Amino acid sequence: MKILVIGSGAREHAIVWKLKQSRQVERILVAPGNAGTAQIADNLLIDATDIPRLLAAARQNKVDFTFVGPETPLAAGIVDEFQKNGLAIFGPSQAAARIESSKVFSKNLMHTYGIPTAASRSFTAFEDAEAYVKLQKPPIVLKADGLAAGKGVVIAQSVEEAVSALNSMMRDKEFGEAGAQVVIEEYLSGREMSIFVFSDGVTISPPVTACDYKRVFDGNNGPNTGGMGSFSPPDFYTDILGERVMNEVMRPTIAALAQENSTYSGVLYGGLMITSDGPKTIEFNCRLGDPETQVILPRLETDLADIAAAVIERRLDKQEIAWSRKACVGVVMASGGYPGHYRTGLPITGLTDLDKDVTVFHAGTKLDPMGQVVTAGGRVLTVVASGETLAQARQKVYNNISRIGFEGAHYRSDIAKF
Ligand code: AMP
Ligand code: GLY
Repeated sequence: MKILVIGSGAREHAIVWKLKQSRQVERILVAPGNAGTAQIADNLLIDATDIPRLLAAARQNKVDFTFVGPETPLAAGIVDEFQKNGLAIFGPSQAAARIESSKVFSKNLMHTYGIPTAASRSFTAFEDAEAYVKLQKPPIVLKADGLAAGKGVVIAQSVEEAVSALNSMMRDKEFGEAGAQVVIEEYLSGREMSIFVFSDGVTISPPVTACDYKRVFDGNNGPNTGGMGSFSPPDFYTDILGERVMNEVMRPTIAALAQENSTYSGVLYGGLMITSDGPKTIEFNCRLGDPETQVILPRLETDLADIAAAVIERRLDKQEIAWSRKACVGVVMASGGYPGHYRTGLPITGLTDLDKDVTVFHAGTKLDPMGQVVTAGGRVLTVVASGETLAQARQKVYNNISRIGFEGAHYRSDIAKF
């Protein structure tokens, strides 16, 4: 089997790493990949959003299917385009990907089908949004409708801050057209977690869960990032809670999308808040999470290529999927200054000095002309280990991560601690 994986983060390195364990997989191509994927697959110099060139590469290399990592190509309709051209691809159609690419669509769907979520209203006119915000009690949650690389959510602590955020989104077009509509919603408090299911539109796999850490510094301080670490499974996730989440959120959402002529195929990612009133949906994503993928795929006991093929061919009902009970922890090493400005091209040392059962997934890395691994982005590596307990996995990661170095490197020291 030949597979093309699209993307360049640690999530995609983990996807390639898992696919590589399949006995059926002979060759994996990655577009564009990073220095980590280059060690186990063939990188192609094609951007993850360049759909025409990705399509040509899939065809030319006669891949059996393509696996899409990030949301941007999904929202741009890569799946529809590949299918139109007779190419098999894992991921939702553009219509189904609206569950992530349009917060207005996603909130309307949840409100219409009674899927628990924060009460909300959508606005297209600044004046209406401003008048509504002035009647709310902080904290006030504001969300740009479209994709904004994780930066389109503001939790305003005062009405003034909320009005100023509305100004940036709707008038100054901080996120371009993504901010033409905004959702204003109720603030939820509780424990936050991510849940992932595979679905072919009808069948839904057993779920797997994880928590991620968005703030850059220990104790959840500092600005938001793409994610500084994660662990799986969450210790507060019980079977009873799992049943509620599947029955109240995940199954009804897959059914609602089918009802709306947007049948879902791929991985559905629910971002949840476990409140005192039960689980509520913060958002849905149309793909695997980053950094959650780095800690869930090591727990997957089934061949990922088999699962992807079963989803694509709509026979997930015949496919077994098993997650191990072990715990897994991943800590992200980031460039000095990230999520603000940072330097790149810095040599990374210590990658070969790690214990055998510790895995490093690359994100912003590349090989320099000398063949040395150097930094090439904000989030550089995710260091991952498994154990019988979260505490064991955590200790293993931290024992090893200190052996890796590059100038300015930083990471959180409290991942999986709370
Ligand atoms: P999102 O981009 O929708 O994932 O939102 C980013 C983060 O903002 C989430 O991970 C939550 O921590 C937080 N957030 C979003 N919506 C709410 C809400 N209604 N109440 C509390 N926190 C929220
Ligand atoms: N872990 C957050 C995301 O993948 O969007």
